[in-house]
Amino acid sequence: MDLVTAIGDWSLGDGRLHQKLARAIEGAIRAGRLGADGRVPSERSLARRLSVSRSTVVAAYSDLRSRGVLEARQGSGTYVDRSARAVLARVDTPTKASPIYHRLLADNAGASDVVSFAAAFVPPCDALDEAMAQAVRADLPRLRAGSGYQPLGVVELRAAVAHDFTVVGFPTAANDVLITTGAQQALNLCAGALVRPGDRVLVEDPTYPGTIDAFAAAGARLVPLPVDHDGVDVGGISEAIERHRPVAICVSPTFHNPTGALLAAHRRRTLAEAAAETGVVVVEDHALSYLRLDAAEIPLPIAAFAPPDAGFIVVGSASKMFWSGLRTGWIRAPEPWLSRIARRKVAADLGSALFDQAVTARLLEARAEIQVALTSTLRERLSATEAALSQRFDGWEWTTPTGGSSLWVRLPTSDTESFSQVALRHGVEVVPGTAFSVSARFADRTRIPFTLEPRLRDAALERLSAAWDGYAMSASRRPEPSVIAT
Ligand SMILES: Cc1ncc(COP(=O)(O)O)c(C=O)c1O
Repeated sequence: MDLVTAIGDWSLGDGRLHQKLARAIEGAIRAGRLGADGRVPSERSLARRLSVSRSTVVAAYSDLRSRGVLEARQGSGTYVDRSARAVLARVDTPTKASPIYHRLLADNAGASDVVSFAAAFVPPCDALDEAMAQAVRADLPRLRAGSGYQPLGVVELRAAVAHDFTVVGFPTAANDVLITTGAQQALNLCAGALVRPGDRVLVEDPTYPGTIDAFAAAGARLVPLPVDHDGVDVGGISEAIERHRPVAICVSPTFHNPTGALLAAHRRRTLAEAAAETGVVVVEDHALSYLRLDAAEIPLPIAAFAPPDAGFIVVGSASKMFWSGLRTGWIRAPEPWLSRIARRKVAADLGSALFDQAVTARLLEARAEIQVALTSTLRERLSATEAALSQRFDGWEWTTPTGGSSLWVRLPTSDTESFSQVALRHGVEVVPGTAFSVSARFADRTRIPFTLEPRLRDAALERLSAAWDGYAMSASRRPEPSVIAT
C-alpha cells in the first residue's frame, strides 16, 4: 500500500507535526500496510504530497532512522529497516475492517474529536438499564454459584434465541444454539471450523468487511458474488458452485451490509436448493435482521427453505437491537457443525461473559416491544439523513433501503479513498467503498450510516458537506484527484 494511504489521518491529535508523522509511519509499518519492497517516498516527494515542509519529513525520517525503523540505502532511497520490517510485520496484519474500526481504536485512546460515519452502530435500547438491574437481582446469584465457564452459553439465552427463531417459523431447540461474543466472533468461529487454507468461499460483493477479515484470516480464497437491489444475485449460483467448488457460501440476506438489500424469497429458495443439493455449507449472517424500517415480520432465514440437517449456519447478534456493548451474538447450526464450532469456542475464550448473556435473554423476551421503538427511530433517522444528503450533496445517489443501518451511496468521483482523506481533515470519517469489496470494486461508493444519534449525525454531515465542497472544487481545478488526498 502507498505510504500516504497507509498513514491515513496522521495529522490529527496532539503533538508536533514531525512526531505525529513518525508515529504514523511506524504504525503503518507495524500493521504491515507498506509495499513488499519496504521503500518509502523521498523526503521531498512525501512533503509535497502531505502539504508539509520538507523539514517536517526530514525530522520524522531522521527519528525513525535513529530508532532502527528506517534505513537509508546509498543511491537507492530510504527503506523500512529489514530487521524492523520482519519483526514488525509479524505483529500485525492489515484487515479490511480496519477503516471502520480505526476511529474506535483512536477514540479509546482519547485521541481525537473526529466524528465518525465509519461504524454503523445503533443506540442502546431504553429497556437496557432495567434488564441489567433485573439480571443483577434475579440472575447473578445463580450465575455466581457456578464455575463461570459456559462455552455453549447460558441456557436461558440459548432457549430465548431458539424461541425467537421458532416464533418466526424456523423451529429451533436450545441445543441447536451456541452463544458467542458478538456476531464477529461467530463469523470467525465459522470460518475457523469450515475453512482450510486455500479453500474457496463465495461471498457477496460488496460485503461487510468483518466477513472478509474472518474468512481471509482462516486462509480462504474469496470469490465474489454480485449483489443488486434484491440482495445477492443467485442466478448463476449452481454454476458458481460447480466452477469454484467452495466449502462455504457466506451471505447476509436480511438487510445486507452495506446495501441494506433484503434477499427476495424466491432467491432464498434458489440458494437453499442449490446448497442443499451440492452439500455446500451456507453461513447466513443475520446481525442486521432486526433493523427493519417497515412493520413486516422478519423474513425466514434461508435455512428454513432447506432440509433440517442441511449445512446451514445462522449467525445472529444483540448488537443492532439492544446494545453492541453487550458483545453478545449466537450461532444456530445442526450437527456436526455445532460441535466443531463449540470446540473452537472453547479454544477462543472458554465462553462469553455470563452476565451479558443473562441481560440479553431478558431483552429478547421484550423483543417485540423494543422492535417497535427501534423501527420508529430508524425511520426518523433515515428520512432526516436522506433529506440532508439530497439538500447538500449534489450528484450523490443511493437507493432507499427497507432496513439495515446505512445508505450505500454513489458519489460523482471515482476515488472515494482520496475523498475520505479530505473528509478526515474536516474532522469526519467515512469509509471508502473498496473496503467492502473482495474485487477492488466500488471506488465510487461510500457507506453513510443513518443510525447515528441526531446531534452527532448533523455534526458529521456538516463537516462532510464542507469536505465535499472543498474536494469537488479542488477536483474541478486539478487534473489528478489523487493529489488532493495528500
Ligand atoms: C453484517 C454484520 N455482521 C456482523 C457484525 C458484527 O456484529 P457484532 O457487534 O455482533 O459482533 C456486524 C457489525 O456491524 C455486521 O454489520
